[in-house]
Parts: sequence; C-alpha cells; structure tokens
Amino acid sequence: MTKVGILGGGQLGRMLLQQAANYPLEVSVMEKDIDCPAAKLCHHFIQGDITNFDDVISFGEGLDAITIEIENVNIDALYELEKRGCKVYPSPDALKTIKNKILQKQFYSLHNIPTPEFHVIHSRDELHQHINFLPAVHKLATGGYDGKGVQIINNENEINLGFDAPSILEKMVLIVKELAIIVAVGNDGTTAIYPPVEMVFDQTLNLLDYQICPANISENILWKAEALALTVARNLKSPGIFAVEMFTDAENHVWVNETAPRVHNSGHHTIEAHFSSQFDMLWRIILNYPLGNTNKIMSSVMVNLVGTEGYTGNAVYEGLAEVLAIPDAYVHLYGKSETKPGRKMGHATIISDERQELLHQANKIKHTLFIKGDKKL
Ligand SMILES: Nc1ncnc2c1ncn2[C@@H]1O[C@H](COP(=O)(O)OP(=O)(O)OP(=O)(O)O)[C@@H](O)[C@H]1O
Ligand SMILES: [Mg+2]
Repeated sequence: MTKVGILGGGQLGRMLLQQAANYPLEVSVMEKDIDCPAAKLCHHFIQGDITNFDDVISFGEGLDAITIEIENVNIDALYELEKRGCKVYPSPDALKTIKNKILQKQFYSLHNIPTPEFHVIHSRDELHQHINFLPAVHKLATGGYDGKGVQIINNENEINLGFDAPSILEKMVLIVKELAIIVAVGNDGTTAIYPPVEMVFDQTLNLLDYQICPANISENILWKAEALALTVARNLKSPGIFAVEMFTDAENHVWVNETAPRVHNSGHHTIEAHFSSQFDMLWRIILNYPLGNTNKIMSSVMVNLVGTEGYTGNAVYEGLAEVLAIPDAYVHLYGKSETKPGRKMGHATIISDERQELLHQANKIKHTLFIKGDKKL
C-alpha cells in the first residue's frame, strides 16, 4: 500500500478518495473542519491547519507522497518533507509560482505565454497611478478563491473597491469564450491533454455555472489553446495535474488567465465522460503507472449545484428525484451539511452526443433542483 496524504478536505479531496478506492492506496486527509466532505471517505483523518508548518510536517511524516486539493497550504513544510524523501505533487516550486498571482503572471511573461497585460500593486493608493489603465481587473496576490479576491475597477471613482494588499491590476479582456484545459504530467515528464471545456458563468455570483465539453471553438483556437496549456504545464517542470484557464477575444487571441496545479472544478465531467478521469490520472501519476486515456467517451455538460439564494442551515434537496429521472444525468452531492447562498454543494454531469440535448438538460437541472436550508435569510 502506498501511503498518500491530501492537504484539504473539500469536494476535490472527496472525489480523489472515491477513485483512490480502486488502487493499492492508504490515504490520509488533513483539514481543520472534522465535518468536511472528504473526512468520511479517507483511511485516516487528521484534524489540523494545512497552512501551519508544524501541522503539515507531522501530517507528512511516514507518508510516501503528499498532494493538495487547494493552493493555500504551507509550502515551507512541503519543501522540508520533499527533502526528507516524501514525493510532493505538484512540486513545491510549481506550487510557489502559482500560489502567488504576482509570481504566476511573471512566470507567464518570462515564458512568452500570452496573458493580459498587468501591473504589480502593493497598496490601494498605488491604484491612482494607473487611471489610464482602467477599466481593469484587480486580483489579490494570495488567498482569493471562487471569484472572491477579484474586483473589477471601471474608473477612478471605483478605486475604493480595490484591495489594500499585494495584488495585480490586469487589463480587462472583452471575453468571447472562457476555456479550460487540463494537462497531466507524469514523473518522467510525459504529458496527456484533455479536450478543452467551455465555461459559462453566472454574472451575479461570479461562480462557474455550467461547462460544456468539448468547447465549441475553431480548429485554429483549439490548436492555440492546446499549445498554450502544454507550454504552461511543461515550464512548471512538475509532475501532477494542471488546469489552465484561458480566454478568447474577438480577434481570436487566446490569453492564459490562470493555472491551478491540482485537480479542478473544470474536470468534474471527466469522471463519467472520459476514459480516465482527472482523479484517476492523478493516482496513476502518484503511483507511477502509465498515464490514462484522456479521450472523451461522450460529450458532456457539468452543472454546479449551489445553495439557493435566501436560505441557510441544514441542506434540503428539492427536485432531486426529478433530476435523477433524467437519463444519463449523474448527480454528485458533496455531503456538506450546511448550505449557504452560492455555496458549491454538488454538481451534475449529463452525457450525450447531442449538444442541444446537453444544454436543454443543463437548463432543466438549473430550474428543477434547489438546495434550500431549514433557515430563511
Ligand atoms: N483580465 C480579465 N478580463 C476580463 N475578465 C476577467 C479577467 N480576469 C478575470 N476575469 C473574470 O473573472 C473570473 C475570475 O477570475 P480568476 O479566474 O482570475 O479568479 P479566481 O478567484 O481564481 O477564480 P476561480 O477560483 O473561480 O477560478 C474569470 O473567470 C473571468 O470571468
Ligand atoms: Mg479562475
């Protein structure tokens, strides 16, 4: 049995554990909240702070390998564990580059990877020096997730909305499509690439709403996007799974927005729609088995199931039976007992080779399933 630890106990950890059950693995999870989605599925649950050096070191002692399901972990501890012979996925160097959006953007510039033009910002006052650069997108260097830590600043009057912290101010792109490509990198540097997904966002929540695979893009954009995703993954020089988020604009440019060095929301559909899922692929990498087959079995759409506005408390799943009656719909509930407006509570994947059917069923799910709490806000 290979002993592997996952830092973080959210839904990505939970889905890693669902696949880990098929391999000779003994998996530990560390997270502060003993009630987290991954806690009940792992062999060993260790309550601890994944951002704390000592907690991560004691978690890693005796493990063969360690991985993450969130970037906000203690990197110094990962460097130390690596020195002591524990394999770390992704490498601490790659994680360090990505975890800080300033370093991440500088990495793209260094490798001539097209990314929206940016300025490094140290404090809110500094934004006044960049009036001519507005409208722009202001992003916290560290600690942002799910769109929190991202603020649009349209003009001088909106500078007060900006973050008073290390951050980047990025040129606003008039986005035509948002794409994501997942790349798998083996220990020997071999790569495998998944087909691109196209993401459609909910304007108000700024949370991923639904995504279609494969993306409806021209061959020209496909080639550019694939080449960029591979360039990002190869230059990070680390084994693991990398999700590269990109934008296209009206001039058919492809821009790299950001990269996640881990399994990612944009790969949920690979569980049912692809021969080897992103979760399966990460275990193959960690166990040093051949990379899996990234091809799609069928086209798919993935809908995030988020907490309904106006409710909190114990989750109640309204309309679940109707959704489960849809042929080829797969529902994943993350086992979070408490719902909140916009909280990711689960997702559903529909597979079909008819694009219209996929969109129809995705919309049906959005209008049928409501995750309400026992308390009204
Ligand atoms: N330069 C830009 N121009 C226009 N829109 C942008 C730009 N950068 C980001 N956005 C929009 O904001 C969203 C969130 O930005 P980004 O992905 O960088 O942040 P995040 O907090 O890491 O989000 P998440 O964790 O949800 O991926 C993007 O998906 C995109 O819709
Ligand atoms: Mg993003």
